[in-house]
Amino acid sequence: MNFELSPEHLMIRQAARDFAVNELLPGVIERDEHQKFPHEQIKMMGELGFLGMMVSPKYGGAGLDTISYVLAMEEISKIDASASVVMSVNNSLVCWGLENFGNEEQKLKYLPRLAKGEIIGAFCLSEPEAGSDATSQRTTAVDMGDHYLLNGTKNWITNGSSASVYLVIAQTDVAKKHRGINALIVEKGMQGFTIGKKENKLGIRGSDTHSLMFTDVKVPKINRIGEDGFGFKFAMKTLDGGRIGIASQALGIASGAYELAVKYSKERKAFGTTISNHQAIQFKLADMATEIEAARLLCLKAAWLKDQHLEYDIPAAMAKLFASRVAMETTVEAVQVHGGYGFVKEYHVERLMRDAKITQIYEGTTEIQKIVIARSILKN
Ligand code: CAA
Repeated sequence: MNFELSPEHLMIRQAARDFAVNELLPGVIERDEHQKFPHEQIKMMGELGFLGMMVSPKYGGAGLDTISYVLAMEEISKIDASASVVMSVNNSLVCWGLENFGNEEQKLKYLPRLAKGEIIGAFCLSEPEAGSDATSQRTTAVDMGDHYLLNGTKNWITNGSSASVYLVIAQTDVAKKHRGINALIVEKGMQGFTIGKKENKLGIRGSDTHSLMFTDVKVPKINRIGEDGFGFKFAMKTLDGGRIGIASQALGIASGAYELAVKYSKERKAFGTTISNHQAIQFKLADMATEIEAARLLCLKAAWLKDQHLEYDIPAAMAKLFASRVAMETTVEAVQVHGGYGFVKEYHVERLMRDAKITQIYEGTTEIQKIVIARSILKN
């Protein structure tokens, strides 16, 4: 077993770190405050290859492995989790989903621009009444011969207004339950497709989360991903990889807060010495460092399994379950280490604490990860 990162992995991690510090850090507080999408920065991330990291060079991607993706996600998320959720959805859900389950025509049409960030994608599964219970899709895609007639509403869609390509999950045949669901490629501008209200969120405020409405949208049949009825499996398989992305985002939020806490503890003086000399602070830092390392290993293991084409659904759920808990706990402790300064925006940790919460909710809540893990334990 070799835990050492390759020189290439180290280079990618450094490139992501440099980008995050130089390009994302200046302005991150303002974007959070005013809910401003990082358009310019996302464009640069596309040019640098961060938006199509695992896409084959044949389709314009960087052709890297999932380990590289985890390393880059951690670094970007340390500084700006709003930018990293855009990156995660584009890489794990949209590009990976299309490359692995789309046909050649679909891949050639969409992947090169998605991988370079010329356009970005969105993944549309959640509905007002189908979040965790994903088989209960109310959005319908009625088979009309050469096209589907799409009707319904999707909720909490990341990249809701900034995306150009939307992978929409919808029910075609209710009688077949989850086997009657399809995944359709919908383009912005299709008649009957409207973007609803932008959510005013607790965290990841720089990302744009919207509801989407589909009213008699004619989606050509050639836009269906996979065979008829493959949509639910498509969503589940794609989310398995997505969970590695969000676990890495949680890891980055935790390690970003931890690094700030270490730095602050060495600067701040109380009772005649820096607070890093007090055991009350040392104990917190030791716990944070240990939990972050464990979360990192779970993320890297899930990524490694995916790269080896081994089963990774349960490891991905475990990584997300654990890393998101670590993100929440570490950021709360990092605010505590900062005392009153932790409660004001300039010190960044309050934002990281707010951002951490969503990692326990999206791409499957904490409870969903536990269901996925427990089912696999109990199935035999
Ligand atoms: N891979 C492949 N197939 C899978 C699968 C997986 N990981 N998980 C389930 N399936 C298949 C099952 O094999 C079954 O198929 P068959 O009947 O043909 O064998 C089918 O899917 C239905 O499975 P279940 O009976 O287990 O379904 P269920 O209704 O009990 O629910 C669930 C399963 C795991 C709870 C699922 O509904 C789930 O993951 N829910 C959470 C959804 C989610 O993560 N939403 C996030 C939205 S996306 C997002 O947040 C993106 C963003 O913007 C950041």
